[in-house]
Amino acid sequence: MASKASTVHSPKMKSVKALAESASLSSLPSFYSFTHNAHDEPKISDDAEDSVPIIDVSLLVSGTPEERSQVVHQLNKACSDWGCFMVINHGVPESLTKAMIESFQEFFNLPEEEKQEFHGNHVMDPIRCGTGFNPSMDKVNLWRDYLKCFTYPEFHSPNKPAGFSEIALEFSQKNREVVTVLLKAISKSLGLEESYIDKATNIELGLQILAANYYPACPEPDRAIGIPSHTDHGLLTLLVDNGISGLQILHKEKWINVNLRPNALFVHIADHLEILSNGKCKSIEHRALVNDKATRMSIALPHGPSLETVIRPAPELVDKESHPPAYVEMTYREFLELQQTGRLRSKFG
Ligand code: OGA
Ligand code: NI
Repeated sequence: MASKASTVHSPKMKSVKALAESASLSSLPSFYSFTHNAHDEPKISDDAEDSVPIIDVSLLVSGTPEERSQVVHQLNKACSDWGCFMVINHGVPESLTKAMIESFQEFFNLPEEEKQEFHGNHVMDPIRCGTGFNPSMDKVNLWRDYLKCFTYPEFHSPNKPAGFSEIALEFSQKNREVVTVLLKAISKSLGLEESYIDKATNIELGLQILAANYYPACPEPDRAIGIPSHTDHGLLTLLVDNGISGLQILHKEKWINVNLRPNALFVHIADHLEILSNGKCKSIEHRALVNDKATRMSIALPHGPSLETVIRPAPELVDKESHPPAYVEMTYREFLELQQTGRLRSKFG
C-alpha cells in the first residue's frame, strides 16, 4: 500500500474522535505512535487462574458479623496481593450507569467548538475536557479524549447535553456511598479503627472526580496507546466501561486483560491508600489499550482525601526498625500539582 503512517498531525488536533472520524484515516498518524519499551515490557498473562478478587459489598452492610469479617479478610488480601478488586451488589443501579455512559457519549458527540468551552488547562480546573496530550511524555499523544469533573465536595458539571448534570450528580453520589462503605472495611482490614481512614483524610471534604475516557477505534491499535502504565492518585478509583475491553493490570509482573463483568464496579487501590497504609495496600499499575473494532468508553471515579490534608503513613503501621515510614508526607493538593510538573516520577514521591 502506498499510504504510510507518517502524516504528522499537530498536537492542536481538537480530539481523537474527530481525527478517527475523518474519512482519510487509514493508518496511524506518527504523532500517536507509542513505542513500548520491548526490553521492560512484561509478558501478557494467559493464565486463567489470574482472576481478580470479587467483593460482595452488600455483605458489609447487611451481612451477619461472620460474613462481614469474612469480607474484611477478603479485602485485606485483595488490597495487598492484587491492589484491585471487583465489587458486586453495590447498589449503583445498572440503569443509572447506562444512562451515565449514554450521557458521556452525547457529550463527546457535541460539536468540537462546544466542547472547547470546557477545555481547562490546569489540573485543578473543576471541569476539564481535552484530548490525551501528555506533556511529560516525549511528543507522543494518547489515543483518547476525556472529560473530568470535580463532583465532590462541590459538584461541577457541564451544562450540556440536556440531563447530563442530573445524571452525573446521582451517579457520583451513589458511587461515593460505595466508597464510604469500602474505606471503613479497608480500615478494619488494616487493623485500624473503622473510621481511621475517614478521619486521617478528612473524607467529609474528600475530592471525588467523575472522569470519562473516550477511545475511538484506532486503525493501528498495536502502535498506539489509550493510557500508558500508571497508578492512580487518591484512595480508591471506581471504574466501569461500555463492555468493550481494553483495561490491563500489572499482576505478578504480567499484564492481565481485565474484562469487566456487566454491572460490577472495578476498584483500583490508589497512591494515597498505599501511603496511608505504609505500603500494605498496593497502588496498582494499569493501562488502557485501544482496538480497531469499536469505540471504548470508560468512566473512572477517583476518590481522594481532602485537598488540604497532609497524608502520611498511619503511625500504627509504622515501626521505626522493621517498617519505617516509606513515603514523603504532603497534602493531596501538593501531590497533584507536583505530579503535573512531571517531577513526581513515581508514587513514592
Ligand atoms: C484512568 C484509567 C483505564 C480505562 O482513567 O486513570 O486508568 O480502562 N482508565 O479506561
Ligand atoms: Ni488509571
